[in-house]
Amino acid sequence: MNQASIHKYLATESKKTIANDVEALFEQRLATNLTLIKDLFFSLYTEKDHKNSFVKLLRTLPILFGQRPSPLKVLDVQRINEGNWYQSEQLVGMQLYVDHFNKDLKGLEEKLGYFEKLGVNFVHLMPITPRPQGENDGGYAVNSYYEVDPRFGSTEDLLDLTQKMRDKNMYLMLDFVANHTSNEYVWAKKAMAGDPKYQNYYHIYPDRTLPDEFEKTLPEIFPMTSPGNFTFNTEMKKWVMTVFNQYQWDLNYSNPEVFIEMLGNLIKLANLGVDVVRLDALAFMWKKLGTVSQNLPEAHALISLFRMCLQVIAPGVIFLAEAIVAPKEIIKYFGSGTMKGNECEIAYNATLMALLWDAIATKKAVLLYKNIHSLPEKPKETTWINYIRCHDDIGLGFEDHHIHEIGWNAKSHRKFLLDYYCQKIDWSPAKGHMFMYNPKTGDGRITGSAASLLGLEKALEQEDQSKIEQAIAKIIMMHGIILSYGGVPLIYAGDEIGTLNDYSYLKVHNKKEDSRWVNRPHQDWDTIAQIDAQKNHHSQIFYSLQHLIRLRKQHPAFSDRNNIILYEAHNPHYLIYERPMGKNNGVLVVCNFDEVPQAIYENTLGSYGSKANPTDLISGEKITFRDGTLRLMPYQMLWLGKTK
Ligand code: GLC
Repeated sequence: MNQASIHKYLATESKKTIANDVEALFEQRLATNLTLIKDLFFSLYTEKDHKNSFVKLLRTLPILFGQRPSPLKVLDVQRINEGNWYQSEQLVGMQLYVDHFNKDLKGLEEKLGYFEKLGVNFVHLMPITPRPQGENDGGYAVNSYYEVDPRFGSTEDLLDLTQKMRDKNMYLMLDFVANHTSNEYVWAKKAMAGDPKYQNYYHIYPDRTLPDEFEKTLPEIFPMTSPGNFTFNTEMKKWVMTVFNQYQWDLNYSNPEVFIEMLGNLIKLANLGVDVVRLDALAFMWKKLGTVSQNLPEAHALISLFRMCLQVIAPGVIFLAEAIVAPKEIIKYFGSGTMKGNECEIAYNATLMALLWDAIATKKAVLLYKNIHSLPEKPKETTWINYIRCHDDIGLGFEDHHIHEIGWNAKSHRKFLLDYYCQKIDWSPAKGHMFMYNPKTGDGRITGSAASLLGLEKALEQEDQSKIEQAIAKIIMMHGIILSYGGVPLIYAGDEIGTLNDYSYLKVHNKKEDSRWVNRPHQDWDTIAQIDAQKNHHSQIFYSLQHLIRLRKQHPAFSDRNNIILYEAHNPHYLIYERPMGKNNGVLVVCNFDEVPQAIYENTLGSYGSKANPTDLISGEKITFRDGTLRLMPYQMLWLGKTK
């Protein structure tokens, strides 16, 4: 039972007395979380030296609660009573850049109907906060945590949008770039002007002694464009820790003042009407000499501390962990040990994402199966964001030992994947690009749009109808998996109409070095306007996804109650998993990753074999078995339901 479940229990128990008394419920949550807040705080900041900071935090919590708008306080209480709303099969998400989607926030508001048409009701807007002119990492270098950059509109426009979205039961996710600020952020400016208080908000060193020590163990995130982890600042004549880009200064959370101020920033962001806060780059939030400074236990304690405070102030708001790290590390962001279920409610399922791309390239789901199978079950109050593409690159973050265990050589396997996706193999249908290749290690990552990586761009160039059909089948199957796997599916805007790579970034000075821009296209409204009138690959993909989304929402088996069972397929090209629900309401998802038809024995399907007389929910057709086998066409996916 995590803290949220306790709040739900207490709020229900006290229904008669304080059910509608938001203030009393705040006090109750504070009392319930206080010991945890204290323990987490003093695990990071010694009690001897930081008692005053803790008292300051205690004074701050009611002040921050006082700032929360009343309608949101009411919504918070509703959400507590509803319990884990984010696990519902009704949620389907889309991620987008506001300016690339439809100019600005007002433009976005005009397109709410488009989301409804597709079935999307959860939207992740890429950063809309002010950022430096010129390079700004797509807005991930922030000049403010809660203001709206004028290029997207005003705060009123955002409030208007969040209100309209709430009226339509839509959810909003925004970023909280908690690990770093831009070098133009007010604290950075004060630090540069020589203020020691603000120099202590960052990791700043007078000479190379400590930076050199750190560099011995810190990996490089952007080795091509921003090598090393420190930048010399000419104004201060000091070295600043900049793990990402040189203009992104890492915050020093070993200073409790930074935590308390950032909590204030977080609440101001939440108060705009945000439902899910995406904690950007959270694995990096704590630094320690002699370590890689990722996924440290202190980082987990810090995130839990944020969560326990947020839950007291704004319990309707939840966290998404953007931890694109090794599979066994990702799962820890749900909270482990005594904090199980008390860290982030949602995490990106980067493991599934990366291994789906592995399965496409190898035409086999074996590595995917092996990895997922070996992961411990996540806490029951949590869920995944399932996705195939986003604004970032695809990293091959899975572990070598699994590759070895299936008899492949890890080094050559990784090289094969990079070659397959980055146009180094003639027969490969993929048109992707290499991102941040590090010749020192041979590591690289992959960029490109889903459609281009899945072969649509090349097939269209070659005007090869059968390859076009195959690429479309892959696009639909990949989306079908994220729509049926437990969690919130997040479609990357443009993928719903098969948008190809966008090469225009190569002509833009401050973008051309960062190939992630190839997969950050503008939404093609001309094509979308034709979608009903024309039958082409765009409309085929759009209507297939719309159909799958509708089906997802009709089947409660797709809600996430940790109800997923992976089946051993006995055919390496197949991925099979069940979403059980009662005796007869489960769904069995069956996918063929091969480019030729493949068969499996019906007994592989467990209780979904011929005795169950199963129907494919997608086509609505009864399944026919031949000689005790089931045969799937290339990249075909079935969602099998039992005939009741
Ligand atoms: C996250 C973002 C990525 C950004 C990085 C630094 O990983 O997704 O786009 O570059 O954080 O903020």
